[in-house]
Amino acid sequence: MKISVRRGDIADYPARAIIVTLFEGMAPSGATAAVDQALGGAISQLIEEGEARGKANELTLLHTLGRIPPSRVLVLGLGKPQECDLDRLRNTIAVAARHLRSHGVDSVATVAHGAGARGLDPEACAQAVAEGAFLGLYTFQRHKKREEDEREIHELILVEREAAKLRAVRRGGERGRILAEATNWARDLANEPANYLTPTDMAERARAVAAERGLECQVLERKEMEKLGMGALLGVAQGSHQPPKFIILHYRGGKEHAAALGLVGKGITFDTGGISIKPAPGMADMKSDMAGGAAVIAAMSAIAQLKPKINVTALVPATENMPGGGAQKPGDVVRALNGKSIEVVNTDAEGRLILADALSYARRLGLSPVADVATLTGAIVVALGRAAMGAMTNSEPLLDRLREASAAAGEKLWQLPLFEEYKEHIKSEVADIKNVGNREAGSITGALFLQEFIEDTPWVHLDIAGVDQVEKEKGALVKGSSGVPVRTLVNLALSLARKPLST
Ligand code: BES
Ligand code: ZN
Ligand code: ZN
Repeated sequence: MKISVRRGDIADYPARAIIVTLFEGMAPSGATAAVDQALGGAISQLIEEGEARGKANELTLLHTLGRIPPSRVLVLGLGKPQECDLDRLRNTIAVAARHLRSHGVDSVATVAHGAGARGLDPEACAQAVAEGAFLGLYTFQRHKKREEDEREIHELILVEREAAKLRAVRRGGERGRILAEATNWARDLANEPANYLTPTDMAERARAVAAERGLECQVLERKEMEKLGMGALLGVAQGSHQPPKFIILHYRGGKEHAAALGLVGKGITFDTGGISIKPAPGMADMKSDMAGGAAVIAAMSAIAQLKPKINVTALVPATENMPGGGAQKPGDVVRALNGKSIEVVNTDAEGRLILADALSYARRLGLSPVADVATLTGAIVVALGRAAMGAMTNSEPLLDRLREASAAAGEKLWQLPLFEEYKEHIKSEVADIKNVGNREAGSITGALFLQEFIEDTPWVHLDIAGVDQVEKEKGALVKGSSGVPVRTLVNLALSLARKPLST
């Protein structure tokens, strides 16, 4: 889909459809009032008759029959004005865009809703509208025959009446497109079946993005990992015929010697559990166990386009977790890059093993602060359900920044504590640490394990196991991988570029 910004009146724009909005309990205003007037009060009449009430996600489609240039007007309810924030806008626009697509509409014009009656920042509103449309219209159909009557919206036009706001709308629309397309790129990767996305494929896709966006890309092979001493990652990889890859991307927008923000993502392209094998029901979902890795690569792609003044490095350890003849066994002891020995009590707790080496490597590169993203534990789904990712940190100021970044993206997070008491669970009798505790506080013990490898570098761990998979479309989310937290990570980079974390 293309996005463009035009100056003019929405009621005059000759798109197949335009979207105007209505608040609950309020008369039409701004663009909606203008369209209503041009249609001889058609919208007011729908309101009077009780058909259009402005409830959130309410859709009322009008055919204009030649009275104005656009042939359809979709009246979209935004709910109560005081409840309508950027997140509501993003999600309702997504619903409207899908509705128009299902009606065979191929071009849609709209305005930066919210900037008028709600008085929100026009740039932020334009961004939310663009994000909502691009995210909500996402589909993954690479492996399906195209249906004869398949429908697609090719063009989104943001129409702005005031010359003074035009630049802001253009900037916001562009930023929204970049962020949403990066998110959709991450969704593509996580939705891809594991036979189409091996660690080698993942490294190739990362290389292609890097080449397209001007990022530096380096991929460490097994030999180099052996030389470095990444025993934890290699232990996981040894059960698979697919060679592991350690993907590194650099974005250099800051001062030459300034420490880079580190983004580290779990890249398990399929998680069978290894010898501690998972039950068959639901195992297919484990093709998305690289969603954290996909998110950090996608974030790098957006960062490269938005060009904040900061250095950022992404690290993605990528491997399968398979129960092959060479697989590691419960009870094995491996040694991570930082020299710590790990008792592998359960081979299904493999994410923390590969991240142990990646976080040690982040320290070796001097990255700071560091955010890691991983579909790490089923326990986070028990704790927080599907509404929010879990966040665990050794640096409250860093988490504060991330909280703002996630709120702006509409990707919720919630903190879990890293109290000393929980460390008992991962003490080993045969090694420096073991990779699982008992069943208690599973997400927290996972994070405490990771902390042993990032040590005192300011760090936050995001457990996305609950938010990665979407069962049913809802607002900007569609069935499949959510692409969370790509936009949060990009917002974090932008925030740290504006103001570094004070130490
Ligand atoms: N990839 C899984 C976590 C997961 C579970 C992601 C559900 C998405 C949905 C991870 O590698 C895993 O298997 N974790 C184990 C850890 C346990 C053995 C301590 C888990 O959560 O059961
Ligand atoms: Zn696992
Ligand atoms: Zn896993």
